[in-house]
Amino acid sequence: MIRPNHDALVVLDFGSQYAQLIVRRIRESGVYAELFPWDADPEEVLALRPKGFILSGGPASVYEAGAPTLPTYVLESGRPVLGICYGMQLLAHALGGRVAPAPAREYGRAEIEILTPADPLWHGLPSPMTVWMSHGDRVEALPPGFRAMARSPNAPLAAIGDPERRLYGVQFHPEVAHTPLGRELLRRFALDLCGCRPTWIPPAIAEEQIARIRERVGGERVLCAVSGGVDSTVTAALVHRAVGDRLTCLFVDTGLLRQGEAEAVVRALRGLGLPIVAVHAAETFLEALRGITDPEEKRVRIGHAFIAVFTEHARRLGPFRFLAQGTLYPDVIESRGPERRAAARIKTHHNVGGLPPDLSFELIEPLRYLFKDEARALGAHLGLPAELLRRQPFPGPGLAVRCVGEVTWERLERLRAADAIVQEELAHSGWADRVAQAFAVLLPVRSVGVMGDARTYEEVVAIRAVATEDFMTASWVPLPHEILDRIATRIVNEVPGVNRVLYDITHKPPATIEWE
Ligand code: XMP
Repeated sequence: MIRPNHDALVVLDFGSQYAQLIVRRIRESGVYAELFPWDADPEEVLALRPKGFILSGGPASVYEAGAPTLPTYVLESGRPVLGICYGMQLLAHALGGRVAPAPAREYGRAEIEILTPADPLWHGLPSPMTVWMSHGDRVEALPPGFRAMARSPNAPLAAIGDPERRLYGVQFHPEVAHTPLGRELLRRFALDLCGCRPTWIPPAIAEEQIARIRERVGGERVLCAVSGGVDSTVTAALVHRAVGDRLTCLFVDTGLLRQGEAEAVVRALRGLGLPIVAVHAAETFLEALRGITDPEEKRVRIGHAFIAVFTEHARRLGPFRFLAQGTLYPDVIESRGPERRAAARIKTHHNVGGLPPDLSFELIEPLRYLFKDEARALGAHLGLPAELLRRQPFPGPGLAVRCVGEVTWERLERLRAADAIVQEELAHSGWADRVAQAFAVLLPVRSVGVMGDARTYEEVVAIRAVATEDFMTASWVPLPHEILDRIATRIVNEVPGVNRVLYDITHKPPATIEWE
């Protein structure tokens, strides 16, 4: 198991939508933190030898039957504890305080007044301070040993603590951006109260992972499927540092990539010195997609085609004992489970079934404990070019999910040409860095137009540009009209077979980012 060896905090998840954010904020202070479900196996949690615990918020009420409880090991550890919202109520409840419904639900911005400014938790923080509240219950009576540490107009106990035992609770959410100085509070907790050393920084992470990979791989060989995306490239770069040419990178050109992308990816990765084998397999994918219009069926077929191509070339180039994958921490959190021998899913096409049983690998997942921004920082440390690290996410099934209707080579070429214009105009205008994802979609709809003196009857392109932090929700970006105008004019003039351009002004939800 590849696991970092740092001073660590454990964040226990009681069902908060912000639990991952708490972990990210702590790590931004250079301290390693990991998220566990509140009812995780204690042995697994304690294996990290945590120097402190953070209890997340959650939707339950501590006094209800069946509500998540505080695992006994938390207080038994004698380590500092910070309870956030539900976590604070749980701490109070477990230690003999009283929790009850608040007279009114409190949701939104609030000002707190700090009552114990000398406490290390508040070090460097102003009073009053703006915080974000979201709770229906509140602590009504303090447990023995606790005192009020902050109050707000609606919450007389906005923060509580027993500094002797280093047990703290805050009713507000320090992890969200709406509590502007919240990250400072979390930092104080991690560094000053728990005494963690801030060693969780890219050079240390890289050095440690490289050493571990080297030790694990020994004289064996490693295969890594690369797409040119951030995750697989950083993974390949790490493995390459560790084992050099015992790594083989396999790049599959599915024919579903953007204009010039396959060549650019191969060039960029070769430029980094990675040993890369590029396989041209567009025909296989097009054949698999022939006549298919259902989005999920497209994904399934692309998945099967990928596995077939991957298997053929893994056998040809092998044998390999290890398969390196760019699995990220959010993937791990979402599909909790032990590392498995790979009947593994190929992550870039995560709708896919497994590899054939005779082709089994041990997995190397050096990004398994990293968030995307940490993977990027690691990549920057390894010297990967900024353009590569800034790349927009691109779906595994590629342009197939942007080529609504049947995927044919002609329609793909049309879509590629339109998309290239979108990318060019965004790059020229400086908007490329201000959107999270922007692309063209080809619709299976024809409309009437007029060009010169001739009537046209051609396909429609939709443009989508979204801003998002996490891709779970997204908002459409109001690109300036001049840019939209230029994009539309160029597409209709330059792309044969398209005579109309639309702009997608739907948020996610209710729409998704991709059209399929
Ligand atoms: P949606 O369309 O679900 O997309 O709002 C959210 C993010 O996921 C990407 N996406 C995919 N990525 N395989 C992938 O690897 C897929 O099948 C897939 N579908 C969507 C999408 O580009 C966006 O970043």
